[in-house]
Amino acid sequence: MKILILNGPNLNLLGSREPGIYGAETMEDCLARLRRLYATDELLYYQSNVEGCLIDRLQQAGQEGIDGVVFNAGAYTHTSIALHDCIRSLRMPVIEVHLSNIHRREEFRHRSFLSPVCLGVICGFGTDSYRLGIEALRQAVAAPDR
Ligand code: DQA
Repeated sequence: MKILILNGPNLNLLGSREPGIYGAETMEDCLARLRRLYATDELLYYQSNVEGCLIDRLQQAGQEGIDGVVFNAGAYTHTSIALHDCIRSLRMPVIEVHLSNIHRREEFRHRSFLSPVCLGVICGFGTDSYRLGIEALRQAVAAPDR
């Protein structure tokens, strides 16, 4: 499978940003672990702090044979109708992931504009949320009507 792991704003700082909430593992280490674990899959990675760049990358993914996206939109989760519209225009499944359990945090994080247009949501498992997102995508692509 060809999977895009997509990260939004401030997630380039993983490992040093609020480690009590987001953990100590860097995204580079997380990706290396995932690529070892899913050696037969192609895991592409893109991160941007800019909303429009995330939209451009998602639109491009729709045209390059990507089977699905594991997407942590960071704070744009709670604000972005543009990302909502973008995801609903895609044919491939998108799994929304978060490192932290957004429902145990401030109320402004409880609302996601992306959940209604994603296949499912995984949150609260630190960097393991990305692995769980990949597992969910593999299941979804293997049995699309389940
Ligand atoms: C986050 C949760 C968001 O509320 C926050 O703005 C982030 C990270 C997470 O992975 O837990 O940047 O998406």
